[in-house]
Amino acid sequence: MLSSFWKQNKRIKNAGISCLLLVLFSITGCSIKQPRQAAIASAHPLATQAGFEILHQGGNVFDAAVAVSAALAVVEPSGSGLGGGGFWLLHRESDELDIMIDGREKAPLAAHKDMFLDASGEAKKQLSLNGALAAGIPGMPAGLVHLSEKYGKLPLATSLQPAIRYAEQGFKIDTRHQKLLGMRSAVLNQHPETAAIFLDKGRVPEKGSILRQTDLVKTLKIIAAQGKAGFYAGLIADKLVIAVQQGGGIWTLDDLHHYQIVERTPVTGSYQGIKVTSAALPSSGGIVLLEALNILETVDLATMDSITRKHMIVEAMRHAYHDRALYLGDADFIDVPVERLINKQYAYGLATTLRTDQALPSEYLTGHTQAKQGGRNTTHFSIIDNEGNRVAATLSINFPFGAGLVAEGTGVVLNNEMDDFVSAKDSGNGYGLVGGDANAIAPEKRMLSSMTPTFLEDSERIAVLGTPGGSRIISMVLLATLDFAAGYSPESWVKVKRFHHQYIPDQILYEKAGLTSEEINGLQALGHQLKQYYNYGNMQAVQLNKATDSLSAASDHRGEGLASVQRINE
Ligand code: DON
Repeated sequence: MLSSFWKQNKRIKNAGISCLLLVLFSITGCSIKQPRQAAIASAHPLATQAGFEILHQGGNVFDAAVAVSAALAVVEPSGSGLGGGGFWLLHRESDELDIMIDGREKAPLAAHKDMFLDASGEAKKQLSLNGALAAGIPGMPAGLVHLSEKYGKLPLATSLQPAIRYAEQGFKIDTRHQKLLGMRSAVLNQHPETAAIFLDKGRVPEKGSILRQTDLVKTLKIIAAQGKAGFYAGLIADKLVIAVQQGGGIWTLDDLHHYQIVERTPVTGSYQGIKVTSAALPSSGGIVLLEALNILETVDLATMDSITRKHMIVEAMRHAYHDRALYLGDADFIDVPVERLINKQYAYGLATTLRTDQALPSEYLTGHTQAKQGGRNTTHFSIIDNEGNRVAATLSINFPFGAGLVAEGTGVVLNNEMDDFVSAKDSGNGYGLVGGDANAIAPEKRMLSSMTPTFLEDSERIAVLGTPGGSRIISMVLLATLDFAAGYSPESWVKVKRFHHQYIPDQILYEKAGLTSEEINGLQALGHQLKQYYNYGNMQAVQLNKATDSLSAASDHRGEGLASVQRINE
């Protein structure tokens, strides 16, 4: 909740105003408008610029979010796109509305529980990860149209302009794009349409080469002109269904006609007086984040040495990810005890198992299953203006370049989110995440996600943050939240050294240099298994300091994004 003082005085226009004058004017009821400003952080400089371009044209933060989402679909095709989905968490200051647009992919109508099993009941991992069968029905185009039409001020066609321009004129590919292409080039090469767009005679193109996407231009223009029907019916829908069926997939036109976004009430809770607003099911993000925070609220992290502190955080992650595996799935299909899982009393119960001198083996928790693990792509952006309007959006096609398949003539890269379902008992998904019937495949069901677009708010600051990173998304947002609680800035949240525990496998993953050798030894002595991992995540964060009416923004140094604060021309 914003302080009434701040509310009365926001948008007061007078650059050289003093606090004294502000107090005087608020008492006398006069109002002076503050220049309009906004902060945007995204995974690509051109996407951040697209957001500002739309704000400068008179758009609000929701129009800017449409522009950034669409631009990312063009300039970061490894991470998200029209063939994928995601969650847009919105706050509109005029009526204090908090809402999440759920544009998550859905299983096709012909999908069934055992569709990725072989005759002996083993998971056929390749099928849920690569090619047509791996693709869920996309939610991104419907999400963009809804966001623009219901919350924006500008026409959809205007907000899509920067993306259309980037696709038409092309842009220089960066090292990150090259790296992600390299990881998936074997799969991309199996699909001539995909290879023709992204590869150079089957190889990763040189850094700085220009990527133009002429089919994607046409698709974006059709959506700009026709809205939702431009993608889910007509020419594009026909091409998508033909490509998927030719690739051995099961989409029909009915699937596309049926797709609907859902507006959901975000998950809310608190940590040490900070209001936490985060993703609702079908993302596990908000619930797992709050459960871990509630457990950690019962201990005094600030007075602990760094080994004990990290141990406690790991134990909280273990419990919260365990409940993810046990209970979470699409609440439109199954009953999920959400209120219990985010209840502070429930966390007190779990916290009684926490010991400072010993790790709790995951196998001692109920419903234990063994599983393997693997991992990695998606995108996040954060926007806030100095009125407090904000968007946290995490968008995905799952693995880099999704299923590796571009539907011929559309430029649309299809997702491989079907892998986020549990396709076989005792078998982890691409991120090693396990689960049960709650997240089993069913027609039109949404697969459980870990995407965690989040708002944090205390008496002085509002933070907007999130990151890609598969199962590790939630633990990254948790670590950033603890850093926010300790009083640090966006620059610090995105820099936090990362470590992660997801219940199964029973091990702490940590970034290179994420833990000191003393911490590694100390955690091992408590009974933890540890595994060093590559530097992961690409957090994008913005903040409004209500007390000083100032904005700040930070983009993860592990990526190649851009965070910027600008005054908006009016
Ligand atoms: O929805 C999910 O949880 C995953 N599909 C997100 C994938 C992801 O973040 C990959 N990024 N590195």
